[in-house]
Amino acid sequence: MALPTKRILSGIQPTGNLHLGNYLGAIKNWVALQADYESLYCIVDMHAITTWQDPAKLARNTREVAAGMIASGISPDQNTVFVQSHVPGHMQLAWVFNCIARMGWLSRMTQYKDKAGKNREKASVGLFVYPNLMAADILIYKATHVPVGDDQRQHLELTRDIAAKFNTDFGKEVFPLPQPVIRGPATRVMSLRDGMKKMSKSEDSDYSRINMTDDADTIVKKIRKAKTDPDPLPSNFQDLKDRPEAENLINIYAALADSSPDAVAKDYAGQGFGVFKSALSDLAVSVLSPIASEMNRLMDDQAELDVLLREGAEKAAAIATDVVSEVYEIVGLMPKS
Ligand code: ADP
Ligand code: TRP
Repeated sequence: MALPTKRILSGIQPTGNLHLGNYLGAIKNWVALQADYESLYCIVDMHAITTWQDPAKLARNTREVAAGMIASGISPDQNTVFVQSHVPGHMQLAWVFNCIARMGWLSRMTQYKDKAGKNREKASVGLFVYPNLMAADILIYKATHVPVGDDQRQHLELTRDIAAKFNTDFGKEVFPLPQPVIRGPATRVMSLRDGMKKMSKSEDSDYSRINMTDDADTIVKKIRKAKTDPDPLPSNFQDLKDRPEAENLINIYAALADSSPDAVAKDYAGQGFGVFKSALSDLAVSVLSPIASEMNRLMDDQAELDVLLREGAEKAAAIATDVVSEVYEIVGLMPKS
């Protein structure tokens, strides 16, 4: 099977609270890339269950991520938008990769170490092999480019190692070595409560993040309460090095306005945070409110959303099934008669 010259795959976990970091670090960038690439966007529910998910919420969270992607401008016609567990090939290839990746490689993954915390004996085995499933998500489509936030760089390196080892072990150029695409308006959006921590779905405080479904009042309140410092803004963005919270808010403004942090710093030079936060609130509401209302509309019409996801899964499976057969044959598994 010939390797595609340019194909994108990326994924988001349906772990609730889709937030501004997901939008600016991932989804907004995907919208920009869709014109130039054949793209597949996957809601990775099998990854989500590597940590406990409330069964009563998982399906809703899965639809919410799909709605968030589509409402942000990812066209389900032009691209393939689907749910990971609807395409069994991901799990089939992941098992083969469990037998390719080495324990040592996986034990060096920082996301695993962070999520497992101090008590690794209690972490699920799924959390440990999470990166192998992610490699399968990407390589089952022989994707060449993977647009993600900065936190996923190490997982992409592992994916390349798995692809390279598979190709060498079996003496065939089966998989491309996919490139991370870590660019876009804001590859690392930080928490509104702590400028040293990334904005995350799993952070306890809802004030640490702006959710894509937050209404205008909530957005304004969260920005008003965001941690800052008493000094006015400098004219030079570089002077914010030791003021991570201020730096983060300027970055967010620039990303939402399609501007640069330098230009924003120049515009607000000498102003206090009262003025700047009120401008940032207006901007955030004007960008996010239309997306939130389209998300709500899609969530209210579950049948329409489910049809789109079924069609997405069919398109994805058409590629995935062939690659599983190709891999099983190369590995030497006995074909079914
Ligand atoms: P989370 O880390 O909040 O659980 P996911 O792991 O599902 O979210 O990430 C989905 C995508 O969003 C990935 O491409 C990831 O790199 C990106 N992303 C997540 N958090 C941030 C952030 N704070 N800043 C920029 N990008 C982010
Ligand atoms: N691990 C990614 C994250 O935490 C989500 C993910 C799963 C993913 N499979 C993927 C991202 C494949 C890109 C490609 O953000």
